[in-house]
Amino acid sequence: MILVTGATGNVGADVLRGLLELQVPVRAAVTDLNRARARLPEGVNLERFDFNDPSTFAAALKGVTRVFLMRPPIMDDAKAFKPFLKALASNGLEQLVFLSVLGAQHNPIVPHRKLELAIEKLKIPHAFLRPSFFLQNFLSTHRSDICERNDLFVPAGTGHTSFIDARDIAAVAVRALSVPHIVSGGIDLTGAEALTYSEVAMVFSQVLGRTITYSDPLPLKFGLEMQKRGIKPAFVNVMILIYNTNRFGLAARVTNEVKRILGRDPLSVQDFVRDFKDLFSETTGSSQTT
Ligand SMILES: NC(=O)c1ccc[n+]([C@@H]2O[C@H](COP(=O)([O-])OP(=O)(O)OC[C@H]3O[C@@H](n4cnc5c(N)ncnc54)[C@H](OP(=O)(O)O)[C@@H]3O)[C@@H](O)[C@H]2O)c1
Repeated sequence: MILVTGATGNVGADVLRGLLELQVPVRAAVTDLNRARARLPEGVNLERFDFNDPSTFAAALKGVTRVFLMRPPIMDDAKAFKPFLKALASNGLEQLVFLSVLGAQHNPIVPHRKLELAIEKLKIPHAFLRPSFFLQNFLSTHRSDICERNDLFVPAGTGHTSFIDARDIAAVAVRALSVPHIVSGGIDLTGAEALTYSEVAMVFSQVLGRTITYSDPLPLKFGLEMQKRGIKPAFVNVMILIYNTNRFGLAARVTNEVKRILGRDPLSVQDFVRDFKDLFSETTGSSQTT
């Protein structure tokens, strides 16, 4: 049995779908059964689960030998995962696939690295997937700017980013869960090329057939605008720090791992915008906020 955490998320939902297609026994760990039922394929084996509630672990882990583990973005304290990692270690896992972040191995401050080190210490067989920036961020964080203002409002300067499609990360995770000996250790996952946000805006313009600009606000302007939109100051600071990695070219590295593991090229920015074109349609009558 394979347990998928974050099964309603960007990556987890496709990990779940990929495993269902392989017809392997799979269980989705979700915090809210009703909400998950509405979002996930009908008939999926669901179990209520909360990283913060150890009373939910036993049922979720019953008969489980492989796990897809992700860290919900709202949980920034790595210590909160200790009880679950201990439960995993005593379950005698064959494979733990952890969704980490590009460069984690060089950054002891990020919670992902703390989790990686804890997993290594517990000697759980693992694969650490370390992806670059998700293209799916354009569907979440940036979607309203694209639909309502035809703009990418990101303080990333002229730095290059090796964007990756979450569907490719999920496909690699499915491989790592179904054929563990093929995918193990730390794996840096990126798209096939690194683009600036200005180049990404050009791709959006070409595919959507309307001009999408890249306004490249300075971090202070971006921070004030995010606060105006109701985002908490602590999270605004995290966002600015994250975009600094783009700005200073720290998210520009390109690897060949998706092709090596999947035997095909990674999905491109063009593929992504084309596949989700309908979700980027223009919304009229919105208020300007900049
Ligand atoms: N975005 C990027 O560019 C990027 C790049 C590299 C790495 N990452 C990493 O990828 C991870 C995010 O992955 P994602 O985008 O697939 O996730 P996501 O779409 O943000 O989904 C979050 C998931 O967390 C689950 N969750 C929230 N609170 C929970 C709790 N207390 N217990 C159990 N589950 C809980 C939610 O499940 P319910 O619906 O059941 O509540 C949901 O499935 C983060 O660790 C992030 O740092 C992101």
